[in-house]
Amino acid sequence: MRKKKMKDLRSQRWYEPNNMRGVSSRARSRQMGFGPEDINNKPRIGIINTWSDMNTCHSHFRDRAEEIKRGVYQSGGFPIELPAMSLGEILVKPSTMLYRNFLAMEAEELMRCHPIDGVVLMGGCDKTTPALLMAALSMNIPAIYMPAGPMLRGYYAGETLGSGTDVLRYWADHRAGLIDDEKLENVVGGMSRSAGTCMVMGTAATMMAISETLGMTLPGASSIPAVDSAHALMASACGRRIVDMVWEDLKPRDIMTEAAFDNATIVDMAMGGSTNAMIHLIAIAGRAGIKLDLERFDNISKKTPVLANIKPSGKFLMEDFYYAGGIRGLMNHLGDKLDLSQINVTGGTLGDAVKDQPVYLEDVIRTLDNPLYPEGGTAILWGNLSPNGCVIKQTAADPKFHQHKGRAVVFRDYADLHLRIDNPNLDVDENSVLVLQNAGPIGAPGMPEWGMLPIPKKLLEKGVRDMVRISDCRMSGTAYGTCVLHVAPEAAVGGPLALVQNGDMIELDIPARRIHLEVSDDELEKRRALWKPPIYPATRGYTALYGKHVTQANEGADFDFLHAGDETPEPLIF
Ligand code: FES
Repeated sequence: MRKKKMKDLRSQRWYEPNNMRGVSSRARSRQMGFGPEDINNKPRIGIINTWSDMNTCHSHFRDRAEEIKRGVYQSGGFPIELPAMSLGEILVKPSTMLYRNFLAMEAEELMRCHPIDGVVLMGGCDKTTPALLMAALSMNIPAIYMPAGPMLRGYYAGETLGSGTDVLRYWADHRAGLIDDEKLENVVGGMSRSAGTCMVMGTAATMMAISETLGMTLPGASSIPAVDSAHALMASACGRRIVDMVWEDLKPRDIMTEAAFDNATIVDMAMGGSTNAMIHLIAIAGRAGIKLDLERFDNISKKTPVLANIKPSGKFLMEDFYYAGGIRGLMNHLGDKLDLSQINVTGGTLGDAVKDQPVYLEDVIRTLDNPLYPEGGTAILWGNLSPNGCVIKQTAADPKFHQHKGRAVVFRDYADLHLRIDNPNLDVDENSVLVLQNAGPIGAPGMPEWGMLPIPKKLLEKGVRDMVRISDCRMSGTAYGTCVLHVAPEAAVGGPLALVQNGDMIELDIPARRIHLEVSDDELEKRRALWKPPIYPATRGYTALYGKHVTQANEGADFDFLHAGDETPEPLIF
């Protein structure tokens, strides 16, 4: 239903008044080749495009932006493409996580400072999705998210290959001397066969599915492979729909409610989603003043089985997931576990979106009676080593380590890890617990994906492929292993992780949700008295700003001055 008239739209503040500002704005539209017939009485639609030559997963975004424009024109709107930092996961260093908040700020300000009435957000590669949704909730103008979609399956020698997951597996074999350079290069050649995001249930696939569950995509959009013709059609449908959303005044805060975030967590757990989702969900919800915490996630995890049989927890890939029925099929199987009354960008309910979606391949999308795993993919742990909580992807951990006690082998930072991990004299065995300190939001800085610490070479050669590993950083959603992550508070701010020493005994008990350092409180106090914080590596620029304002992992690692419920104020226009 139309709630807005042309005179009500925010773009009119730039264009319509009969004063010098409006004259100037209209004159500059002519400079671009657009006259009154192009722009008068048309909502302006921003298209925030995270394309760049350095974002390998978004290489189809130039085409998709044109397809979105086509849809905007079809619905009577006027499209305006706005480039934003693209955050390609593989090539941006030291970590895209350092820049998630940067993109969130940039996207918010792009929406704020330009004469646009609604926006299509183009994202997919890991941090782009949470950054864009954070911005959308802060700015709160009508918005629709267009997910990049996963790339096609990888292939090598008759075997399907999953991004990241199988690279890591073959890389471990190569380090162990089991495969030569030529075979590794052939694997590399078959791994990434098209545009699109990693095609395992990594952070990209997880966050795209979460954005759909939150209601921010068109139904079914998040599962479509990037190069399927259905993806181009979906892009133009986004362009058509956003124009109507402007007239209907349907905004992100109407859609991403507290109940929608619970739905998103349920779907994340049922997919065996990336541990990174815990941080991103807290950060996104925080932009609307919705407070999520790790206890809430763990309660949902205990009640939600994993249904998606997708790597790294299962055996299939995202292309299979699409053919099996996609995210709507999975939500259909979850049924009443979800609050199906929540609305999405269509204005209809989640229930409407999923009720008629069949599941075609029930080994790929399991039923509640036949789950892949009886609990959610991510478990939350607490204990004296991580008083504010930490996470583990229990479905990607060797079951023999679910309850384990071992001797700590400590690396004080990432440089130390690389210097010593393959030293034949390193005092380590397969029952040791590898500990990485000073790799968190402030310690690294930027909380990189270093949490799947490499197995020491001398153990790889003995056939060891998993060990208990603990750190205050993150792990790629494509990775696997018994990796305890996001330890909070982090070592660099004096969390107990900073006090662990070689030889300390550490107990991991996933069923009991416990991570415990077997060192007395008295001894820990003595160590604390001697502890000195590491020197932060930046005194200027964005990294210095980041170090002053980033919050801990259990708080979403957003900036303290952005993690708040207020909407972004409109700019003054004179
Ligand atoms: Fe872009 Fe994995 S590198 S999604």
